[in-house]
Amino acid sequence: MNILLIGSGGREHALAWKLAQSPYCDTLYASPGNPGIAAHAACVDLDVTDHEAVIAFARVKGVELVVIGPEAPLVDGLSDSLRAFGIPVFGPSASAARLEGSKGFTKDLCTRANIPTAAYARHADKAAALADLPRFGLPVVIKADGLAAGKGVIIAETADDAEAAIEDMFGGGFGTAGAEVVLEEFMRGEEASFFALTDGRDVVAFGSAQDHKRVGDGDVGPNTGGMGAYSPAPVLTPELEARVMEEIIWPTVKTMAAEGNPYSGVLYAGLMLTAQGPKLIEYNARFGDPECQVLMTRFEGDLVTLLRAIADGQLADTDAPEFSSDTALTVVMAAKGYPGTAEKGGAIHLPKTNAAMIFHAGTALNEGQLVANGGRVLNVTARGRNVTEAQARAYAAVDAVDFPSGFCRRDIGWREVAREAGE
Ligand code: AMP
Ligand code: GLY
Repeated sequence: MNILLIGSGGREHALAWKLAQSPYCDTLYASPGNPGIAAHAACVDLDVTDHEAVIAFARVKGVELVVIGPEAPLVDGLSDSLRAFGIPVFGPSASAARLEGSKGFTKDLCTRANIPTAAYARHADKAAALADLPRFGLPVVIKADGLAAGKGVIIAETADDAEAAIEDMFGGGFGTAGAEVVLEEFMRGEEASFFALTDGRDVVAFGSAQDHKRVGDGDVGPNTGGMGAYSPAPVLTPELEARVMEEIIWPTVKTMAAEGNPYSGVLYAGLMLTAQGPKLIEYNARFGDPECQVLMTRFEGDLVTLLRAIADGQLADTDAPEFSSDTALTVVMAAKGYPGTAEKGGAIHLPKTNAAMIFHAGTALNEGQLVANGGRVLNVTARGRNVTEAQARAYAAVDAVDFPSGFCRRDIGWREVAREAGE
């Protein structure tokens, strides 16, 4: 079948690489794609906010599956528009994507479905939010309700900082995303990510991962979209995964369906492993980036069959996803300046290697020369028997990449490497 993949990052490169390996994939199109994706797909420049243009393209090219990578087109209803024309889509409706697009929506769902999560309050009025602050204690978590490119979460250590964050959000510091805020109890524990695939009715687990959000070694410095990740996350033991499925994922899927708002696609649960058990921090309505890169590196099934079954509401008839027992680890190579203004245009020379996959996250071709074209530029990904081995292989490949205007963290996976060393 012909497939159209929407997106341009490392997540989409990993999806394209896997989709193209399927015997069921005829022509793979990617929009806009990137130079790495171009090795697996025909890149086309569609305006994804112009739904009619995407539908027209899909019809002319006989596209029978559209895979939507990033959250913005989901929240914008691209999957609804495509489905209205009978085109199968992997990705939730706009209404279901509110699980990512509105933090307040998700918190209210947790209340209705009795899902463990931090205590919270929603406020659309600044004075009410300020008055409500003290009962949350310190630190307190303050979130802009809407999509804020991963930046709408403030953990305030002092009352002054908390008040300033509320002032900033209602003052438009996060655009319309901050028109409503969510105040949350601060949860303690280790964070892990869990993925589940659902067609709205049935659910399968799709692996776990941990990422490193801070820009600097030792988890210091500003937050980023993720500087590296590994899968599986051993802290999420089979027992904990079973609890997550039963206490968090299934109640979400069942409640959404019962309320006439079925969720179809990947549910990416950000979890806090607290002393009382796993609690939901937030949902994303898409694969994580760079978590997708490590999941795809371990996934051993046919991605086309699986995603099409989900698009068709036939997950129940599909084999359970199989993963390698290996660990996969990815190191993000970013352009200097990231997560602030990243240096664009720096030349990159990639090594020829079979020991690692180098996914392109933010690259472009400039007169035939591969150059940096984004904050996160490359995702150097390797497999190994454990995190220690995967880490060593990934950094061996990183060291063979010639990218003078780039940088990376040198300690991706440190928590597990220390545990594996018995420290
Ligand atoms: P989010 O964008 O909701 O995933 O939040 C970004 C990060 O803020 C999370 O990965 C956590 O590290 C942290 N965070 C969010 N909510 C809480 C909470 N209620 N308690 C503790 N940390 C939180
Ligand atoms: N790596 C975090 C995310 O994709 O949201």
